Amino acid sequence: MLVDLRSDTVTRPTPGMRAAMARAEVGDDVLGEDPSVNELQRRAAALLGKEGALFVASGTMANLLAALAQTRPGDSVILCEDAHPLHYESGNLGMVAGVLTRPVRGDCGIMSLEDVAANIVQRADHHFSPTTLIGVENTANRGGGAIYPIETVAAIGTLARERGIRTHCDGARLFNAVVETGVPAAEYARHTDTVSFCLSKGLGAPVGSILAGDAATIDKARRYRKMLGGGMRQAGILAAGGLYALEHHVERLREDHLRARRFRAALEGVPGITFPLPSPTNMVYIELPDAGAFAQALRERGVLISATAPNRLRAVFHLDVTDDGVTHAIKAFKGLARGKG
Ligand SMILES: Cc1ncc(COP(=O)(O)O)c(C=O)c1O
Repeated sequence: MLVDLRSDTVTRPTPGMRAAMARAEVGDDVLGEDPSVNELQRRAAALLGKEGALFVASGTMANLLAALAQTRPGDSVILCEDAHPLHYESGNLGMVAGVLTRPVRGDCGIMSLEDVAANIVQRADHHFSPTTLIGVENTANRGGGAIYPIETVAAIGTLARERGIRTHCDGARLFNAVVETGVPAAEYARHTDTVSFCLSKGLGAPVGSILAGDAATIDKARRYRKMLGGGMRQAGILAAGGLYALEHHVERLREDHLRARRFRAALEGVPGITFPLPSPTNMVYIELPDAGAFAQALRERGVLISATAPNRLRAVFHLDVTDDGVTHAIKAFKGLARGKG
């Protein structure tokens, strides 16, 4: 048995999703003529309560387009110190958008209103780079899949509006927050000007993300998408996978959260293993002495896992992890930790 806990990006399209993709009606999306892409964008915008949505290649591209469409080079962007673009998007905000990122401390990847307010720069003095965008990440990947309290998102959104600053929610895993809290996606999205989510993570589609917002911002983002070479032609085959995911794979994200909890509960009290962060959604971070060697030993027992730091592993639960897979992973972990592996 092979259990892949490295990320929820490893999911493969199910037979039902593949069939929907094979049936997809397609056209040239650069000309705006792909019916499946248009339908996905319409559905996503409606789900998020936004005027428009754009189907893009990746979560990285969605975040970058949000910055390009809402800032100018030389501006600064407030992000949590743990935010995905600061660690894992290849420095694109500096290189491509030409913006300065201002990292703000967070609690499990969640910034407080007070810390955001304290880091806003709006001064006439030309020494300074003005804050024109604030980004929140929901759920927060490096925060253990933490969920932004809706009150905090609302308060940051209100502050930003009062100060004339745009806001973006990196909702790569927004639907994990939605199923866990019962707060509708549109309610989260209402408080930020733009919001993105990934179809290719827990939702199980092979490729693609959505960026949604007001019509003018999405139009700008469409131009930047083209500029970056992200204009795709018969992308409806991919969009059909996304439509299928929205139809069939949202509610089931709860199962991933339950499996993450079961996994964590089974490892509580195992000598040498601790949990540095809470696990409210589909991730479990584990602290132990030599994470790289432990991950290698797990691999030899059919469990793939990411070492995210010298003493830290991350297990992510998703569509392709079954109950039996969880049992297998627990056994492998316990055996190794107790030296009986
Ligand atoms: C919070 C967050 N944002 C953005 C991304 C980027 O998504 P992609 O891998 O599709 O570029 C990820 C990917 O793991 C993520 O976890």
